[in-house]
Amino acid sequence: MIELRNVSYSYIGKNVRVDAVKSISCHFEKGKFYALMGPSGSGKSTLMQLINALVQPTQGSILYQGKPIETFRPNEYRLKYVSLIHQNFCLLPFLNVLENVLYPTSLLKINKQEARIQAIKQLETLGLDATYHKRMPSMLSGGEQQRVAIARAMCTGAPVLTADEPTGNLDSENARHIASIFSHLAHEEKKTIIMVTHDPEMAKQADIVLHLKDGKLLLNPSDM
Ligand SMILES: Nc1ncnc2c1ncn2[C@@H]1O[C@H](COP(=O)(O)OP(=O)(O)OP(=O)(O)O)[C@@H](O)[C@H]1O
Ligand SMILES: [Mg+2]
Repeated sequence: MIELRNVSYSYIGKNVRVDAVKSISCHFEKGKFYALMGPSGSGKSTLMQLINALVQPTQGSILYQGKPIETFRPNEYRLKYVSLIHQNFCLLPFLNVLENVLYPTSLLKINKQEARIQAIKQLETLGLDATYHKRMPSMLSGGEQQRVAIARAMCTGAPVLTADEPTGNLDSENARHIASIFSHLAHEEKKTIIMVTHDPEMAKQADIVLHLKDGKLLLNPSDM
């Protein structure tokens, strides 16, 4: 589904250069649930940004079903092909819960009525009933905001769902619930799920666990 070939990324500033991702090659397949682990600063979020074409590799290439991702129109790629649950949610503060979830679908040619039904359903599966629909993000707890961001990403229908620490703000019961939703999306709906997590219990539910350290993919996790 998504293949990384010798991908490196460096943040290059005026006086600093940080080599955040170093020559990573890996393959994310359809219908599989991946967990990406590693210490803070090891390059996990940068890798997520690369997969979502929010930054371009300094070296190497990323292929989506065999096609280099730079050959897709960037906005279309980020809407239709991949979706990202941001580490810091990125909810639009001037839209309410339901409007936030519906926003990406409003940019796609999805029937409005159908999109609304889906959005309400996804929010419900994440424990957010109709009483939440009209609340603004500032009126929600961190965990509730996180679940709105998850619902929003799930509503676009993209075949690849990437999640940057999607359960960092959730209690263990809600976190387990999210992991089981991801498992279901991978195994029943044949999505590719890539989830960054620091939580070994969450990682256990994934099919494949990848470990990053200092921007490199470890072949042997005992090197952590
Ligand atoms: N905009 C930026 N400019 C310069 N350096 C950056 C920038 N963003 C991240 N970095 C650096 O790149 C490296 C990787 O950062 P990244 O955010 O990918 O780590 P991470 O594994 O997601 O960490 P965490 O678990 O804390 O979220 C770190 O050394 C970080 O300081
Ligand atoms: Mg991060």
